[in-house]
Amino acid sequence: MSATGSTTSHVDTGFVRTRLGSFLAFMPLSVWTILHLWHNLAAFQGASAWQSEVTEYTHPLAQFATLVVVLLPLVLHIVWGLVRLKSARPNNVRYGFFANLKYAVQRLSALGVLAFLGAHVWLAMLQPRFVQHHAEYFGDIAHEMHHHGPTLAVYLLGTLGVTYHLANGLSTFAMGWGVVASRHALKKVEIASLGLFVVLLAMAWGAIYALYTAGA
Ligand code: HEM
Repeated sequence: MSATGSTTSHVDTGFVRTRLGSFLAFMPLSVWTILHLWHNLAAFQGASAWQSEVTEYTHPLAQFATLVVVLLPLVLHIVWGLVRLKSARPNNVRYGFFANLKYAVQRLSALGVLAFLGAHVWLAMLQPRFVQHHAEYFGDIAHEMHHHGPTLAVYLLGTLGVTYHLANGLSTFAMGWGVVASRHALKKVEIASLGLFVVLLAMAWGAIYALYTAGA
């Protein structure tokens, strides 16, 4: 194959990988995260409502499918994200624009989200299921939220990072995929992204508040 031919195929693979990592962050990861926050609001209705919304599945296969559909894209997105983090060159000191700040915070929040998800997936999902042989109990997480300060702080900060990363990420996703191009459309997406951030944060902190009060 000619030199030109091999360069083209190299560029194509990189392009596909970039697109795939970006698409997985949107679907299913962002959609599932929004649903997960919504389901957690069942904490306002008490233990059995929360238990059935958040931890119960109609069929063991549904549980397995969720693991594959959510955890696999998450792992792939993390690998994709870490590669992009390595090449990140924040220039906020030289250019104090809002867009440059958002670029840096998107990457900083990615590291916070990584630490939070490591703790959250282990403590709320894997450890109860594989060590204690049952799904996380409402009483346990509510008790921790009320009586263990570090747990409350980690959930408040972790969900702040997740909601910012997701809402801002969806706007960069829209730009990257050419959904928006004009200056006017960009402004609209920025406003929608800010609105989404506020709504998602209210959902997350609302669920934490409900768990905190139930754990008293
Ligand atoms: C709940 C989990 C997560 C969700 C829902 C999520 C969602 C997203 C979305 C929608 C984007 C925008 C994609 C695009 O611009 O095309 C994004 C970008 C990014 N994510 Fe995540 N993400 C999550 C976790 C993580 C983690 C744990 C990391 C850690 C490495 C990470 C690293 C990144 C990076 C570095 C970017 C920016 C890529 C760029 O613009 O060049 N993400 N994320």
